[in-house]
Amino acid sequence: MLNNKKILIGITGGIAAYKILILISKLIKQNCQIKVIMTKNAEKFITKLAVQTISQNKVYTDMFATDDFEIDHIALADWADLMIVAPATANIIGKFANGIADDLLSTTFLSFSSSKKIFIAPAMNSKMYENFIVRKNIEKLKESNKNLNIIAPDEGILACGAKGIGRLPEPEIILEYIDNFLYFDNLPLKGKKIVITAGPTREYIDPVRYISNDSSGAQGYAIANACAGAGADVILISGKVSNSIALINTIKKIDVIDSAEMFEAVKNNFKNSDIFISCAAVADYKPLDYSANKLKKDNDDLMLRLTKTQDILEWCGKNKKKQIIVGFAAETENLIENAKLKMQKKNCDLLIANSTENIGKSTNKIFVLSKDNIQEFSETAKQETAKIIVSAILKKINEYTN
Ligand SMILES: Cc1cc2nc3c(=O)[nH]c(=O)nc-3n(C[C@H](O)[C@H](O)[C@H](O)COP(=O)(O)O)c2cc1C
Repeated sequence: MLNNKKILIGITGGIAAYKILILISKLIKQNCQIKVIMTKNAEKFITKLAVQTISQNKVYTDMFATDDFEIDHIALADWADLMIVAPATANIIGKFANGIADDLLSTTFLSFSSSKKIFIAPAMNSKMYENFIVRKNIEKLKESNKNLNIIAPDEGILACGAKGIGRLPEPEIILEYIDNFLYFDNLPLKGKKIVITAGPTREYIDPVRYISNDSSGAQGYAIANACAGAGADVILISGKVSNSIALINTIKKIDVIDSAEMFEAVKNNFKNSDIFISCAAVADYKPLDYSANKLKKDNDDLMLRLTKTQDILEWCGKNKKKQIIVGFAAETENLIENAKLKMQKKNCDLLIANSTENIGKSTNKIFVLSKDNIQEFSETAKQETAKIIVSAILKKINEYTN
């Protein structure tokens, strides 16, 4: 969604300003044209030279510059397809919310068409963020225009060393948020509660050994981000994933280790959900006996007896009331045949079929099966696959409500 876009970026005087260099560099890789306005105080944190070099364009700082004939705040606002202000200080938020136009960034903001999207990412110390005037200003901005979006800050260790809310989300998650937001215009999943499982489960044999698989969690996490970008309330139930994958901060994540814990978490959240997406690679079998002590290498052979785990998707299919259920099938052979059978057996509304070759990769190639239709999609990044899946869910919602 961001490819080839003309993006105006506002950088203000916050400690997280350095992260914007990475954001700009990622946007340049997507062939975006970037123009940047820096406040005078932003220049205390990062240099104009660095921003100019990375953005491959002139950086604007002075409201009354006389080096060309254009009126910069009007020309920049007209030029851009969308605007991102990150990090947004408490100060600039106050100015935006109250119509103050005393520098180039705040004046350009007021000149920016209300029909174009603006993303504002507040970042500051948690005491500042929780200050009631700052809260009020943020609320005022949210209500001012449906095209204005606030990217909420993350919780974590802040620059001052304290723990709290106020961190600027990582650049890749800002981009994923904006990309999904632009794709799913007008938050079509607003008000929907979605439970998603992702990643592998680990079935422990003894305290240090387990049965698992190569699932990276990337597909489930991307679906969670896409659903959140489309406005849903998302609960992500995740097995242990080896790489940390950035998540939009409105998503509630529940960490689990084995299939029994995953089942418990699903049971606790299924009843209140509208949609259940089973993307996790849950072990079908687990060791019948768990050894509390590490197994010793005493014999040449070791017999391990396995027993079936609870089939979580099947349980959801049996217990469904209002829920739309989306299953996944990963197969080495007879993909479509097996997927069709699984969809029927597990009472799914949609089934996403993919080859086991896609497990652990950053791309996926899927078939979307519904009761009377099969759609094939070409191989694409898991973030794009997530959009296809969410679009199929939206279609199902429409079908059921009309
Ligand atoms: C070291 C340091 C770090 C700061 N970090 C932040 C910050 O993260 N967020 C914020 O809202 N203000 C922060 N401030 C305060 C702003 O720089 C100050 O309010 C300034 O007037 C903002 O100007 P601007 O909004 O025009 O860029 C910081 C100040 C200092 C000295």
